Amino acid sequence: MARKEHNMQGKWISIGEVKTKSPESPTPLLFKRVINIGKPVRKAAIEATALGIYELMLDGKKLGDAYFAPGFTSYEHILQYQTYEVVLKQGLNELTALVGGGWAVGRSTFIQDTTQSLSQIAADRPTLLLTMTIEYEDGSTETIESDESWLVTDKSPWRFGDWYDGEIYDATTEDKQGDWTQVIEVETKINPKIVPQYGENVTAHETFVPDYIGRGTGEFADELIYDFGQNFAGIVSFKIKGKAGQQVTIRHAEAMMNDGNLYVQNLRSAKQQIIYICRDGLQEYEPKLTYMGFRYVGISGIKPEDILELKGIALYSDIKQIGLFECSNPDLNRLQNNILWSTKSNFVDIPTDCPQRDERQGWTGDIALFVDTASFNFDTKKFLNKWLKDLRSEQGPNGEIPFVIPRRGGDETTPSMLTSTWGDSCILVPWAIYQSTGDESVLEENYEAMDRYMRGVEGCAAMTQGAYPSNRIWDFPFHFGDWCAPYGHPGMWLAKGPWVGTACWAYSCGLMEKICLILADQAETNPVGNEENRTASVAACVKPCITSGKDRQDCAEALKARSKAYAALKEEITDEFFRTFMEDDTKLKEEFQTGYVLPLYFEMGTKEQKAQMADHLCRLLEENDWKINTGFQSTPFILFALADNGKVDEAYRLLLQDEAPSWLYQVKMGATTTWEQWDSVQKDGSIKESSLNHYAYGAVGDFLYRRIAGLEPIEAGYKTFRVAPQIGGGLEWVKCSHVSPYGEIRLKWHISEDGEDAKTFYLELDVPVTTECHVTLPDGSRKRVAGGHYSGKCRLPAFGPDCN
Ligand code: BGC
Repeated sequence: MARKEHNMQGKWISIGEVKTKSPESPTPLLFKRVINIGKPVRKAAIEATALGIYELMLDGKKLGDAYFAPGFTSYEHILQYQTYEVVLKQGLNELTALVGGGWAVGRSTFIQDTTQSLSQIAADRPTLLLTMTIEYEDGSTETIESDESWLVTDKSPWRFGDWYDGEIYDATTEDKQGDWTQVIEVETKINPKIVPQYGENVTAHETFVPDYIGRGTGEFADELIYDFGQNFAGIVSFKIKGKAGQQVTIRHAEAMMNDGNLYVQNLRSAKQQIIYICRDGLQEYEPKLTYMGFRYVGISGIKPEDILELKGIALYSDIKQIGLFECSNPDLNRLQNNILWSTKSNFVDIPTDCPQRDERQGWTGDIALFVDTASFNFDTKKFLNKWLKDLRSEQGPNGEIPFVIPRRGGDETTPSMLTSTWGDSCILVPWAIYQSTGDESVLEENYEAMDRYMRGVEGCAAMTQGAYPSNRIWDFPFHFGDWCAPYGHPGMWLAKGPWVGTACWAYSCGLMEKICLILADQAETNPVGNEENRTASVAACVKPCITSGKDRQDCAEALKARSKAYAALKEEITDEFFRTFMEDDTKLKEEFQTGYVLPLYFEMGTKEQKAQMADHLCRLLEENDWKINTGFQSTPFILFALADNGKVDEAYRLLLQDEAPSWLYQVKMGATTTWEQWDSVQKDGSIKESSLNHYAYGAVGDFLYRRIAGLEPIEAGYKTFRVAPQIGGGLEWVKCSHVSPYGEIRLKWHISEDGEDAKTFYLELDVPVTTECHVTLPDGSRKRVAGGHYSGKCRLPAFGPDCN
């Protein structure tokens, strides 16, 4: 039985018989309890959770506005419960709970071969736990719990529901009352800690009204096709006229094929389909147990005039948008918009890789690379802290990080190992949250996991043999390498593992050097938050463990020593990187763009070495017609690698390229989200099997904010920050804002022609009170600005390289 660290007195209840076997998803269950209220109620509340996903209804009306409760967590360790205030009337009140398979019981693994995919990961059937507390006006109380007094049916109108295949709803059975049986108490196979919800709710956001764009062809000739104009994650809702037994089928897809039919190959085994069986007359419906990734739907089994209303509803976690970037180039604005939509579509309770195919997993590497961009645009703290809790629970004893978190099954379905970027997520994600919020507790909480990972990595590097026997080159056991690069095939990307792994290791050492110092400083000064937790987490890896003032000093010393060790390690790794991979001081023996980008961005090497590497990188770009040739791991950094090493124009040239592979090629091809592969959609409209809604390449958003707008924190959390726009690319103006913990920072720059031989750069800036901004104008002039409004300007040479 699950540990009872909550108020819920109820029992885990479900249906007696399990009729499905993995990988099938279970039939959704509907639970019911009629509550007879005989006297006036002062207040009533329900606490509920489930293995599966659930929705509560009181007299048929949904409680709360969240979707997919109790949310996706590492169920073996932790399960959230939700609280609902309810209004009970005197007399009979019918409380129902719909529980579908969701993540815990439904099919949801990332294995492409469906015969190997799994359902029933955390439980063998949808299971409910609930307590209702009623306080009467006369002061008495009553508790209603999930127990044998409840009824259950697997013959409700919800015939089927899962993430990949969609939902089947039979409206003809809505009035049938006959199939209820008594629930049984079940023994759960996992024993999570049950805690109040600490993540964001998934809720309904934007709605879209589609355009009808015609009928499908061939086999799909009677399918009516609608275009919502935006690729997104969510559901459709409709109002239709139907006849009892009439079956309406809705297929969902991200793209259209040239033959006029929906493109569904990239869904792999996921059907992403709604089957709705009508009753007679007017009816409304929206699915509750699934979501889809789509822009288009194809509807069959109904005449167009019987569709009275059709809407698309975007569903995602309640993350608040806190950033805005706009500029004079409409293509860059579209790119920024696509980045926002790929974030929304993949922030569905956990950070997923994609919202459409039979995957939708918390791939660690994807968020590790995207977190900076995401945190400029959205307040990610609560959302990502929830995910980090799962990361910590699921980390292996030697620091291994599962490829996807929460894990799905064991090693066969979710490998867990020490591997670059995907593993570095345990450092990169907390570091980005810290940078955007200034909240040191995220570093404290995750320090132990980071340090354990880094010790594990050092052990792995020592085991790297074969071509790289040095214990400062990290090859073993596996790296994703230049994952999804435009060249070659996956084998070639993986073969870049030693370069990528080693460079990422150096970078993480550099971050750990800083993190240890921040925590040492904190250990020395006044503790923030709960003293006991604080020292416990800091001390867990930094012995001796301490709580008193004096011991805190020991802890600080230990952290400082660890910081030095990381700094020294970074140097050793850097030296070995150059010794092993370069044929002279800075030219790679085996040249590829990522091979230069990573050491450049990761601050490996001297200023001179970096200048030479930047030249080599530009040569490779020139040879490649100024097209990008990088995979997931270096794409976020390539423009910084150029701009920060004297190649601002080259960075703009690459950013503004619109032939594939490039960011703007996607825009030119009409993308409304960012793609998994640079050329997912080919020039002739044919599609390479890949996701059209993946945020990895959208990590370029960080550059839009940090270099084009020029905004970045100097002190984490923007207590002091920099505004140093890098002008170029023909941009005439940029507008940017970001809500920092101290208030909104707003800036706008523009360039105006002053005459034949001069242009002027103007900057308008709002600096939140109590913060300070270090402004650098394009002519190099600097100024420190305290809270308030600031206007600055400088003259620019009219035809200089930066402002043509
Ligand atoms: C996912 C990725 C992930 C990658 C790693 C893909 O299937 O969609 O985004 O990081 O696999 O192998």
